Amino acid sequence: MRTAVVPQAIRDWLSKPKALLIDGKWVAAQSGKTFEVHDPATGEVIAHVAEGDKADIDLAVKAARRAFESGPWARMTPSERGRIIHRIGDLILQHADELASIEALDNGKPKAVAKAADVTLAADMFHYMSGWATKIEGKYINISALAAPGMQFASMVRPEPVGVVGQIIPWNFPLLMAAWKLAPALTTGCTVVLKVAEETPLSALRLGELILEAGVPAGVVNIIAGFGETAGAALAGHPDVDKVAFTGSTEVGRLIVQAASRDLKKVSLELGGKSPNIILKDADLSQAIPGATAAIFFNHGQCCNAGSRLFVHKSIFEEVVEGIAKEAAKIKIGHGLDDGVDMGPLVSQVQYDRVTEFLASGEQEGARAVCGGKGLGGKGYFVPPTILVDTNPGMKVVREEIFGPVLVAAPFDDADDTLIAEANNTIYGLAAGIWGKDGGETQRIANRLKAGSIWINCYHVFDAALPFGGYKQSGWGREMGQAVLANYLEQKAITTRIG
Ligand code: NAI
Ligand code: MG
Repeated sequence: MRTAVVPQAIRDWLSKPKALLIDGKWVAAQSGKTFEVHDPATGEVIAHVAEGDKADIDLAVKAARRAFESGPWARMTPSERGRIIHRIGDLILQHADELASIEALDNGKPKAVAKAADVTLAADMFHYMSGWATKIEGKYINISALAAPGMQFASMVRPEPVGVVGQIIPWNFPLLMAAWKLAPALTTGCTVVLKVAEETPLSALRLGELILEAGVPAGVVNIIAGFGETAGAALAGHPDVDKVAFTGSTEVGRLIVQAASRDLKKVSLELGGKSPNIILKDADLSQAIPGATAAIFFNHGQCCNAGSRLFVHKSIFEEVVEGIAKEAAKIKIGHGLDDGVDMGPLVSQVQYDRVTEFLASGEQEGARAVCGGKGLGGKGYFVPPTILVDTNPGMKVVREEIFGPVLVAAPFDDADDTLIAEANNTIYGLAAGIWGKDGGETQRIANRLKAGSIWINCYHVFDAALPFGGYKQSGWGREMGQAVLANYLEQKAITTRIG
């Protein structure tokens, strides 16, 4: 893989020391340590970033606590807060090209995709959430107070920010995950310590600069780059953090719950998936075939909601699999910064090894690769689009989240009536797709699937106004939409005796 041309402005920005954002200032790690960040398309080092650890988390939590209790943020009106949050969205759009380049270089995804999806949706999340700042409302309740006969009361419920929030995000959508987490926390008036993924810290650090430029007061947003077992664990278990919001693996989600349980912190989790994508026999295949292709191969399969288990009616199974393989053959693999590239490398050597081990296990268990099937090897962490058939529900590749461009496809027969049971036969419940022309049938199936997002004749449709999150082991709580506000609000009931 040839090395892409990195824009000069990005080179200049990368060459400056990459520090931690604590209390409104960019500072080195207390330990003085830094870690290397790689271009996953080449394996080359592109930046050295301050390595935050427990001591830095401590400082950041102190700053966030101060900002929450007594800083200008604590006194700011919802209207002022909303305007600042809106400005963050504006600044993201103004720097869209630059942020997309950073994302392509750091994460490996194509720059055009980063610009159209990650950057656009990140800005929209701040814009959307900024409107809620002035619309968070409480209640007036006429209570009966049966145990206090003869007395009269006036009761209201006042929503309040939960406090200092620890947020931990992954590497698959580095900027967008930062936006999903930061925007609602700021909207509700919380203060934040954000721990970004060690694989991809760069776009969130640039976002931190824009957040300061937008006028967010010191200490309200603190950004720590560092590793999960050190910085992440310190944040999840910190006694002065009121709430932890996590996106990542189900395995680490469990560790977060354990760490948070000591102080019974509030926790929200957005975890893994193994989402079914169902193509019914009357589906419009001119939509369903490209749709199912994108459902799995978008972002190289590194989506928690990837449509990774395909169920196709047996009468069209061969046609659909062949069609997806043809679409997959058109996907141009290369460096995310090169024009015309549709698919970049996986994010790291670790993920490359993980995904190629899944491919080996599939082969060993008897699955057959219609296309792809092996990592490309050589420089960079490239795995081609892969479709596995001849699978059975017991195989590891069918049961576990692969988080790479690997689709398992199986036919179903109406006569057996096992489709819904098989589609729901997973520990996860994040998303599902259904393709078909009979509106009644697709709705009936949607109602029976245990998943937080269902897409009918479409896939990967995200919007800041729509709640997103999981049933079962895919998580707790919802991101985005009005629903996300609940993650960051306490409800205080205030009762006054009036007679
Ligand atoms: P991970 O869950 O280990 O990492 C996600 C975040 O958690 C990172 O910021 C990491 O530093 C942090 N973290 C790790 N260990 C921690 C700990 N003990 N305490 C606190 N924070 C910790 O995910 P990883 O290792 O990058 O990927 C492994 C697998 O997880 C993937 O193959 C995929 O299946 C799944 N995954 C799911 C994601 C999703 O969006 N639901 C995102 C990333 C990974
Ligand atoms: Mg991990």
